[in-house]
Amino acid sequence: MPDQKPKMVDFDAALHNENYDAEYLIPPVSPDDLFTLADRKCESLDGQWGFAIDPYENGMRKKWFNEITADDAGFPLPMDFDFDAWESIAVPACFNTQQKEFLFYEGMTWYTRRFYFVPDSEKPRVFMRFGGANYECRVWLNRKLIARHLGGSTPFAVEVTDYLQRENRLLVMVSNRRRPENVPALNTDWFNYGGLYRSVGLYRMPKSFIKDLFVRLVPDGEMNKIAVSVKVEGNARDCTVSIPGLGLDLALKLQDGEGECVVPASPELWSPESPKLYSVTARCEADVLSDEVGFKDFRAQAEKVLLNGKRIFLRGISMHEDSADVGKSLRAQDIEKSFAIAKELGCNFIRLAHYPHSDMAARIADRVGLLVWEEVPVYWTILFGNPATYQCAQNQLKELILRDRGRVSVCVWSVGNENPDNDERLEFMKGLIDTCRSLDDTRLVSAACLVNYKKLAMEDRLAEFVDIVGINEYYGWYRHNMEDLPRELANLDIGKPVMISEMGADALAGHHGSRDELFTEECQEYVYERQIEILSKFAFLCGLSPWILCDFRTPRRQNGFQRGWNLKGLVTADRNYKKKAFFTLQKFYHVKAKQSE
Ligand code: GCU
Repeated sequence: MPDQKPKMVDFDAALHNENYDAEYLIPPVSPDDLFTLADRKCESLDGQWGFAIDPYENGMRKKWFNEITADDAGFPLPMDFDFDAWESIAVPACFNTQQKEFLFYEGMTWYTRRFYFVPDSEKPRVFMRFGGANYECRVWLNRKLIARHLGGSTPFAVEVTDYLQRENRLLVMVSNRRRPENVPALNTDWFNYGGLYRSVGLYRMPKSFIKDLFVRLVPDGEMNKIAVSVKVEGNARDCTVSIPGLGLDLALKLQDGEGECVVPASPELWSPESPKLYSVTARCEADVLSDEVGFKDFRAQAEKVLLNGKRIFLRGISMHEDSADVGKSLRAQDIEKSFAIAKELGCNFIRLAHYPHSDMAARIADRVGLLVWEEVPVYWTILFGNPATYQCAQNQLKELILRDRGRVSVCVWSVGNENPDNDERLEFMKGLIDTCRSLDDTRLVSAACLVNYKKLAMEDRLAEFVDIVGINEYYGWYRHNMEDLPRELANLDIGKPVMISEMGADALAGHHGSRDELFTEECQEYVYERQIEILSKFAFLCGLSPWILCDFRTPRRQNGFQRGWNLKGLVTADRNYKKKAFFTLQKFYHVKAKQSE
């Protein structure tokens, strides 16, 4: 059926119609449309794209995506867009760091490119996958709106088989406008980078293909059985999974496209000190998928956390996905450098705050040996009573878990950070916790919970429902009286794992003075010394992840030292300079590591 030529836009009506967006608010792509990437061959769409900002949302008002450039009589019209004449911008990248004038831009942007496509009868189904676009994304392929996604840090995929032509026009709207109903909402302490900042690619699949592969140790504490689950698209009835390192060749029978088996096995267990990985290959008819998996047992036992049956203290550090030069669009080498610094600090754990980082992060952590806390940006005040907001948070959580649950380094799913304790929030968070447990029974669930500073005791109903309680405390910085820290800690031994998920102080690198002078390195060093001296006395604590490894951009911070940066980093944003407090924490972690040997 030849395409219907889109109708000419009534330009006068377009000027007066403030409801121009409504018909395009199609339901967001489902997390269930995601597929396990593993070693799948990607036909990359990364590179230079055409780009334009669109603060007045003219592209939606005037329907640029219909590409009408002449009137019904065929006379050319002076349109406000010209896709092939737009300036070019790199994908993946945050548009903010591409040009000075884009740094603080918040609103609609348009990305476009052409690409050629030749079908392959062996792999007739084609999917387009976006690694991450902040915050709302709408995708037109050859003038058809094929996908909409909400959420700035998780991937989404859409089948494009029926929309592809030999020559294709791809047009993507990405808006990083902050909205109260979003997750996160209007107010955060990090930079609102925008755009197509993670890779975009095409994936060709045979008629039947492996959509999801999940291999893990059965979480019963015995550490002698592994579970293998597969989901298959298409009508295949069998799938094989082999793990040569364990001498396993498993044949799974599929029922409605799903298969699972549990087999005895005694794999060498993964740990930060010994990050053992095994190759796994799944085959289903013509589809073959290979990945690297590891096996660990991570559980809570009273106030303790056990890794592979042995108590572990989480020697951590928190991290944002941010860098001075490329913002949120970190490359593998940026992540590897950050993780190498964390290892040098003596860490066995990293808290990837406050949203899902690149999928490269957990893969690199698998390899270098770091346990990983991953989190969805249910941060501070969210519209907890809004069903669409809950749906968006749950979608982001599902996308994160389906993307990363195969990564052995992941040990914690965190459902939020410092949210106000009210009935709506409790219901919202209990729903997210149930979602975690339904998708993955091998990780612990956590959140940074609230403390009543008058009582110096935790006062957060969410604490009952998480496995590990995170406590963010800033004694010595936001709260001057360090003497209250031991009083608060004495009230935190609640019979389940509690960790200090944040503590710290700002210091401008190279700015020196007395330890009482705010924003000096000596002041930050002293806060760490006093914090460590006090925290060391409370043996029930299961971990520590100070705020934060590197300085990071945030428009909220505008005093003479900060100038748009949060300076609580132990290292500068370019990762080239370690402040004095880095060595204070390093000394503590080296002692803790010795104690655990
Ligand atoms: C909070 C919050 C962080 C924030 C930090 C700070 O606890 O979790 O996102 O950046 O404190 O104030 O620096």
